[in-house]
Amino acid sequence: AENIGILGMEIYFPKTYVAQEDLEKFDGVAAGKYTVGLGQTNMAFCGDLEDIYSLSMNAVTNLMEKYDVDPHSIGRLEVGTETVIDKAKSIKTVLMDLFAKSGNTAIDGIDTINACYGGTSALHNTLQWMESSYWDGRNAIVVAGDIAVYEKGPARPTGGAGVVAMLIGPNAPITFESGLRGVHMENVYDFYKPDMDSEYPRVDGKLSISCYLRAIDNCYSRYRSVFEKKFSPDQFSLDKVDYAVFHSPYNKLVQKSFGRMLYNDFLRNPNAEVFKSLAAYKDLKAEDTYFNTDLEKALVALSKEDYNKKVAPSTLLAKQLGNTYCGSTYGGLLSLFCEKSDDLVGKRVLTFSYGSGLSASAFSFKVNQSIEEMVKKVDLKKRLDQRQRVTPEEFTNKLSLREQRHNLKNYSPSDSVSTLFPGSFYLKHVDDAGRRCYERT
Ligand code: ACO
Repeated sequence: AENIGILGMEIYFPKTYVAQEDLEKFDGVAAGKYTVGLGQTNMAFCGDLEDIYSLSMNAVTNLMEKYDVDPHSIGRLEVGTETVIDKAKSIKTVLMDLFAKSGNTAIDGIDTINACYGGTSALHNTLQWMESSYWDGRNAIVVAGDIAVYEKGPARPTGGAGVVAMLIGPNAPITFESGLRGVHMENVYDFYKPDMDSEYPRVDGKLSISCYLRAIDNCYSRYRSVFEKKFSPDQFSLDKVDYAVFHSPYNKLVQKSFGRMLYNDFLRNPNAEVFKSLAAYKDLKAEDTYFNTDLEKALVALSKEDYNKKVAPSTLLAKQLGNTYCGSTYGGLLSLFCEKSDDLVGKRVLTFSYGSGLSASAFSFKVNQSIEEMVKKVDLKKRLDQRQRVTPEEFTNKLSLREQRHNLKNYSPSDSVSTLFPGSFYLKHVDDAGRRCYERT
C-alpha cells in the first residue's frame, strides 16, 4: 500500500472537568503553580459510570458513525492503553461487540501496554501490517487513550482522561514518512503500577522528567541520522520541521522538550551564530543538563518564537484535558489539525511519543490534502465548550468513589447519566463474576 496514514480521527473525552486554578486554591498551593508552573488549564475526569471500555467504545463508535465506516471494511483494530480492568481480557475483545451485528469477526490486532506508549506501538504495528504481506486491503482502527488518575499530592493535577480513535488506510491525507523513526527504550522505574488493588501509579516525578528528556535526546538524534541516511545528505535540523507534536504530561514539559531538541541541534554546531546565547553550555555532561535551570531558561528563550509557531497549536487538548497518557500524543495531532487546518498541506510534522518504564520514539508525517472535513467532523472547540466545570470538592469525591469501586464486583454505578454527553456508552452493571455490561444514553 502507498501513502499509508490517517483517514479520519475522533476523540472522546468526559463531560466533566475541574479547572486548575480552582484546584490550586483547593490544594492550598501558590497561585500559578498548576496554571503557570505546569502550564495546564483544565483537567478532564470521570466518575463511576465510565471506564476504559466505555470510553473506547465511545471513541470508536463516534469515528465509525461520523465517517460512515462499513464494519466489513475494517481488518485490524488495535488498542494502546495502560488503564487495565482485566489482567487477561483485552479492550479489543470488548470492542468486538461494536462489530457483532455486521458478523465481521476477522479483525486482527489486540492491546499493547507500556505506560503512555501503547498507542504509538499500536499505530506502528498497524502501519507495518499495511506494508506487509499480511495486509488484505482493508482499513484499520487504532485506539489510544487512558483514564489518568494520581493519588493526592503533587502529581494529582497532572491527571486527565480521553481516548482517540484513528481510521488508518492507504492514500490518506495525512501520511506517515515510511522507514523514518528514531527509537529509544530502557528499563527504569520512573512510573509504574505494581499495586493491582489501586488505579494509581507509583511515580518518581523528577526521575520521569530526566528519562523523558534523555529519550528526546536519543530519539531525536536517531531520527536525524535515519533521515540523513535515507532521505537527504544535508544535515537535519529543526529548520526542516514545520510543526512538532509531543506527548504532553503537562505543558511546561513540552516547552522544555522543544528547547531540548534545539539543544541537540546546538551540540552538533556549537559555534553557529544562531546559538551564541548557548555558548556557556557546550561542554556539559548530559546528566548535568536535565535539571540545569539556566540552560533550560536559555533554551526556552531561544526557541520561544518557534515554539509559538510550530508547537503551541498542538497543545490545545492537552491543556484542556490533562494527560490522557496513550491518547496524549494523538490528542496533540488532533489539536494541530484543528488549529492549523488551513496551513498544513505540504508540511512535515515531527512527533515524539514517550511512555515511562521506558519506551519512546520520534517519527513524522506529512499532510498531502486538505483536512477541513476531518476538522468539521470532530468539532473540537464546540464540544470542549459544552463540558461542565465542577468544583475540586466534587472532583475529589469522584476520585474517592472510583477508589471504592476499583476491583469491586456485583454493583451498579451511582452517578447520574446527566454527567455524560448524550449518546455515550456507560457502565450499567458489574456482575458477581466481574463481567461488565453497558448501555448508551
Ligand atoms: N507560579 C509559577 N510557577 C510555579 C509556582 C507558582 N506559584 N510554583 C511552582 N512553580 C513551578 C516550579 O518552579 C516548577 O517549574 P520548573 O519545572 O520549570 O522548575 C513547576 O512549577 C513544578 O513545580 P515543582 O515543585 O518542581 O514540582 P512538583 O513537586 O509540583 O511536581 C511533577 C511536578 C514532578 C511534574 C508532578 O506533578 C508529577 O510527579 N507528575 C507525574 C509525573 C509526570 O507527569 N512525569 C512526566 C513524564 S512521565 C508521564 O507522562 C506520566
